[in-house]
Amino acid sequence: MNLDKICLVIAVCLVANVAGSALHGACETDDDCGTIDTLCHNGICTCKEHFAVWFDSCVALPHPRIACEKKNECHRTLGIKSMCTKKNLCACKPFHHLHQGQCVKNRDLHDMCDHDHQCYCGADCQDKIACIHKNCSCKAGHKPYRTRRCISEHPIVLSVADHQVQLAPIRIVERVITSSTTTINPLVSMIVLSIFLLLR
Ligand SMILES: *[C@@H]1O[C@H](CO)[C@@H](O)[C@H](O)[C@H]1NC(C)=O
Repeated sequence: MNLDKICLVIAVCLVANVAGSALHGACETDDDCGTIDTLCHNGICTCKEHFAVWFDSCVALPHPRIACEKKNECHRTLGIKSMCTKKNLCACKPFHHLHQGQCVKNRDLHDMCDHDHQCYCGADCQDKIACIHKNCSCKAGHKPYRTRRCISEHPIVLSVADHQVQLAPIRIVERVITSSTTTINPLVSMIVLSIFLLLR
């Protein structure tokens, strides 16, 4: 076995593992972007309008925007779960969303909840999720998609405006194919690699 070849294969596996879904990662469609409230813009996963970059997530900005110097100024209007960004704009903290002008902690799909407004699956998904039996669940006629989102079970009858949802069933098939090559976890990659090298 040639050490150079092993190093090359390992490098390829590592690059393949990080490709695609993180904020500022490469993408072809919105669906390739795994971070909540991102979309694919010019081949890069980017925060949606009304969201700001905050480390590796996108934080919600109120509209109209609120200028700030210190977080206390944001707390007055958006509540204590808000902060002042480096660009001097009030925003919700990461993993919080705006509900009636207040920042509220996100409860993900299948988290425990007491109220509908706690459940969050992205700005474009809010009408599809609800607190059902104290469990954030997809509303009737919708099903979970890629662990955190809800999509319609009947994409064909949806309006053209709901572009992302319409595409979902096709993307699932593609996802199965691409996930088998790009999102295998490092351990699996290493095992597959070892077997491959041993069998040669
Ligand atoms: C919510 O429901 C899902 C699906 O039935 C289940 O897998 C999950 O464990 C539930 N979560 C809680 C917090 O009970």
